[in-house]
Amino acid sequence: MEFNVKSGSPEKQRTACVVVGVFEPRRLSPSAQKLDDATDGYISSLIRRGDLEGKPGQSLLLHNVPNTLCDRILLVGCGRERELSFTQYRKIFSHGVSILNETGSMEAVFYLTELPVKTCDISQRIRHSIEITQTTLYRFDQLKSKKDTTRRPLRKIVLTVSNRRDLPDGEQAIREGMAISQGIKLAKDLANMPGNICTPSYLAERAVTLSRVYSNLSTEIIDEEELQNIGMNAFLSVSRGSRQPAKLIVMSYLNGNPDEQPVCLVGKGVTFDSGGISLKPGAAMDEMKYDMCGAASVLGTINAIAELQLETNVIAIIPATENLPDGLATKPGDIVTSLSGTSIEILNTDAEGRLILCDALTYCERFKPAVVIDVATLTGACVIALGKHPAALYTNHSPLGHDLINAGKSTGDRVWEMPLWEEYQEQLKSNFADLANIGGKEAGSVTAAVFLSAFCKKYQWAHLDIAGVAWQSGPKKGATGRPVSLLSQYIIDQCKSA
Ligand code: BES
Ligand code: MN
Ligand code: ZN
Repeated sequence: MEFNVKSGSPEKQRTACVVVGVFEPRRLSPSAQKLDDATDGYISSLIRRGDLEGKPGQSLLLHNVPNTLCDRILLVGCGRERELSFTQYRKIFSHGVSILNETGSMEAVFYLTELPVKTCDISQRIRHSIEITQTTLYRFDQLKSKKDTTRRPLRKIVLTVSNRRDLPDGEQAIREGMAISQGIKLAKDLANMPGNICTPSYLAERAVTLSRVYSNLSTEIIDEEELQNIGMNAFLSVSRGSRQPAKLIVMSYLNGNPDEQPVCLVGKGVTFDSGGISLKPGAAMDEMKYDMCGAASVLGTINAIAELQLETNVIAIIPATENLPDGLATKPGDIVTSLSGTSIEILNTDAEGRLILCDALTYCERFKPAVVIDVATLTGACVIALGKHPAALYTNHSPLGHDLINAGKSTGDRVWEMPLWEEYQEQLKSNFADLANIGGKEAGSVTAAVFLSAFCKKYQWAHLDIAGVAWQSGPKKGATGRPVSLLSQYIIDQCKSA
């Protein structure tokens, strides 16, 4: 999809379709009003007749409207003007995009970007527009033998700004929006890929391919033999039950001042989580191919920042493995010594995410990171606690938490902070080792985070439990690409404040 930004009157656009909003009840947006003035009340007469109330989800496609230069006008219901939130805006925009894609307009000029969306400036409206367009049109059909093709697909969208002064900001928003959408698409494609194709080796291969595209990005793949030499036994304890070899993927994007400490992004890359010997129940187990969504979002973020050529240093670390049961698999009660020297009693082999992450987090120390952010589909309990709207945020450094919360608010890819209080440490006591890998049935997302925090004492750290937000279940089953947008925005913000 091609995006441009422009300012100008709707009646003067020579295009396949002009898209304008109508508020409830039957109130024209300023650009709809301009069209109405230019067409001697054509639009208001339709609306008076009752053709469009302006409710969200409603729309009306008009053809060959006199005194305009466009082939079509799409009126989109926007709901009540005062209630126009970014969530509502995304729904409205998405609705417009689907209609155009299905009715033969290959290009369109959208005036919806000029609508007053609560707490969103023009840059954010443009960014949301691009992301929601890509989300609306995304299909994962690589593995279907017959693909649904659209005969005249939407190819080009012009987004308008009401004031010429906003054009430079608009263009920057387009650059950012396109780069982030590319990252989101990579994250979704990797996540939707089934576990028999998307193995640890496949993820490693894709990381290497990505680093060939950008000159300041390099990738190192560390194999099991070397992981053993380094001493990442907690990580290796998870891959023991699998015939696919584990890989530690280390990517370096170095495009900042050489003495600027890097941001480390760590992504959980369990390409299939059966639970191991503590086998999961069968229902919806296929969705455990999504247990590498943390890794996918880290790769997507690296893609976005490399595409934007941001002047910063970022290291991505992805422990990639399967979690399967086998004769050699780790058993409940087994004790391993992690890279940090802390011994861990594995009371449940299904709590494997924290085992691979704790070693990856210790590994980060060698990069002398400014901050470390890990991203993981870590606990089912997180979904129970917060549902599918925010990711859970845990941090040992509140300014870092603040920055992430703000990046979440501005992108709509939101997080909600949860406690890391010392009282919870009690739940992770083991009779036989330094730590147990599970903390009982209370506060499962918190105790998983508290477990990780034991390995992050030497730097500023945040953990995002994305179990509720990384993919959707049910008829719309599919990866969301979250939190690529949040992480990319966080790094963009860091570059601006540096
Ligand atoms: N990958 C799962 C967490 C998960 C489950 C995410 C369902 C999304 C949906 C993780 O490895 C896991 O199995 N966690 C266990 C931990 C428990 C054994 C302490 C869980 O949440 O049940
Ligand atoms: Mn598990
Ligand atoms: Zn898991």
